[in-house]
Amino acid sequence: MPWDWFSVYAPIYDPFLKITRIAPSEALLALADLRTHERILDVGGGTGRIAAAAVGTVGEIVILDPCRAMLERGPRHPTIHRVRGGARQIPFGEATFDAILCVDALHHIKEAQSAVAEMHRVLKPGGRVIVQEFDVRGWRGKLAAIFEHLFIDHSRFIAPETLQDLFGSTGIPGTSRRHSWLEYTFLGRKAEP
Ligand SMILES: C[S@@+](CC[C@H](N)C(=O)[O-])C[C@H]1O[C@@H](n2cnc3c(N)ncnc32)[C@H](O)[C@@H]1O
Repeated sequence: MPWDWFSVYAPIYDPFLKITRIAPSEALLALADLRTHERILDVGGGTGRIAAAAVGTVGEIVILDPCRAMLERGPRHPTIHRVRGGARQIPFGEATFDAILCVDALHHIKEAQSAVAEMHRVLKPGGRVIVQEFDVRGWRGKLAAIFEHLFIDHSRFIAPETLQDLFGSTGIPGTSRRHSWLEYTFLGRKAEP
């Protein structure tokens, strides 16, 4: 298994994101439009900063992440559950979740296609997927990609249209749109039978 840099960066991860203003949770949660009766899965949820911001707006939220050090920093709250595991084998049954979040994580997952298939499996029909990724078409995104390759791992960045096609062909049609100076967001909905 390759070295897990997130184990090293876990203590500085949240402050770093705050200072750089990367992937702020407010705009993402507004877009996700979560409801108080919903069960949410945060794939690659890391330190749980999105889950913490979602408390009170969702029924429950599961942070799924393979990195123990990131998960251990996760918030303690009765509606937040921390589960150690990877996106290519999500440890939940079919149609468990009303919505899935995957913020700044998909490019770290080897074989994104398997992760997308797993998201489709655990999502309820009509359920939403909200993915946020770096847009590496612009110079800021390219810089971020270089930074990640140097300091984290061999991230595999996916262009907005490619991500849209990947989810669409898996049964979660949706659209990608620019979200910020650095990121784009994909918003999809699982087709109903
Ligand atoms: C940049 S962090 C993003 C954390 C969180 N989503 C956020 O926005 O703060 C990327 C996360 O993806 C996780 N990750 C790496 N490989 C993964 C996999 N195969 N399945 C799920 N998560 C994974 C890492 O452990 C890390 O916590």
